[in-house]
Amino acid sequence: MKTLWQHCHAATMAQGTYSIIESAAIVTSGTLIEWIGPQSELTATDFDQIVDLNGAWVTPGLIDCHTHTVFGGNRSGEFEQRLQGVSYAEIAAAGGGIASTVRATRAATEDELFASAERRLKQLLKDGVTTVEMKSGYGLDLENERKTLRVIRRLGASLPVSVRATCLAAHALPPEYANRADDYIQHICDEMLPALAAEGLVDAVDAFCEYLAFSPAQVEKLFIRAHELELPVKLHAEQLSSLAGSSLAARYQALSADHLEFMTEDDAIAMGAAGTVAVLLPGAFYFLRETQLPPMDALRKHGVKIAISTDLNPGTSPGLSLRLMLNMACTLFRMTPEEALAGVTLHAAQALGMAHTHGSLEAGKVADFVAWNIDRPADLAYWLGGDLDKRIVRHGVESLI
Ligand code: NIG
Ligand code: FE
Repeated sequence: MKTLWQHCHAATMAQGTYSIIESAAIVTSGTLIEWIGPQSELTATDFDQIVDLNGAWVTPGLIDCHTHTVFGGNRSGEFEQRLQGVSYAEIAAAGGGIASTVRATRAATEDELFASAERRLKQLLKDGVTTVEMKSGYGLDLENERKTLRVIRRLGASLPVSVRATCLAAHALPPEYANRADDYIQHICDEMLPALAAEGLVDAVDAFCEYLAFSPAQVEKLFIRAHELELPVKLHAEQLSSLAGSSLAARYQALSADHLEFMTEDDAIAMGAAGTVAVLLPGAFYFLRETQLPPMDALRKHGVKIAISTDLNPGTSPGLSLRLMLNMACTLFRMTPEEALAGVTLHAAQALGMAHTHGSLEAGKVADFVAWNIDRPADLAYWLGGDLDKRIVRHGVESLI
């Protein structure tokens, strides 16, 4: 099927900038973009279908590159506690936090997890997301991590979205391994990761490197095993304290290091040199009422590509709109709307190892795009949430969610 999408303007996001084409047209052939350029330069004529976009602004489909969409229960009770002054770390130390979501996730059936995650995922898709990464990490044993990863694969098969599954078994210490973090990491390396990878359930490996989770030495063991299994790595690093986890991630050519409020300039230098993307999560920053900002100037100075994501999770960022995160990245982190849009398109694709096929509107790339009824690209970061008028195209076909 060859389709002409005409009468639009495009922010192609090639090279991570708006790279605007006014009065543009796009030709898609099957699932791919065959041509994009000024409509006046269009020469092809043999279309199966012609779609008029009525002056819409077309951007790449949005990419949410860091989510924990699949979980049981919710933690609005902890939200109330935190508003009364109890900290995230205190709640975790008292057996709440991630551990409470682990209990609810273990108690849920695969179908229950699928149903609740599907509702959340649909919210993201309605907002213009066409690719999403989802992590396990609330199962913390083989059976329940498998259950979560299977749900992630099923979501990708049943909704119009490309899905990447990340194994975050090293998210927290399960109760069976209390005070035995080294043994748990060994168990992940010896049993869980090889089994889950062999079942085709894992696209990347992540860990939570933090004083209340796993040390850099423990994370390094996991990274070595991931590389033996030929899996790329990512890392939750420098969210609450500075442990040089992001430098460690860079040493292992991580696709991304995520959060990063407490990273140092040395970490930025290491990430820039390694091509490790900085995934910033303004929803978690906001929701935890953090005050330490990620070092934007150091990231820019050392050429680190910056992605933005919802971090959709029940504890620190119950965020159902990636577009809202664009606004928060600008307002809270002082990013420009152009940087923020690159952060949910080309740079988010790079954070998933998909930049060769996704994240910008260029001939040869996958035909995932959104035609927005807006006046300027910056409008995407301007409106605080809401359901903007749009048409969503995935793999060359308009998707109705
Ligand atoms: O990305 N930092 C660790 N993991 C999640 C929070 C998980 C939770 O509290 O349930 C995050 O913020
Ligand atoms: Fe996270």
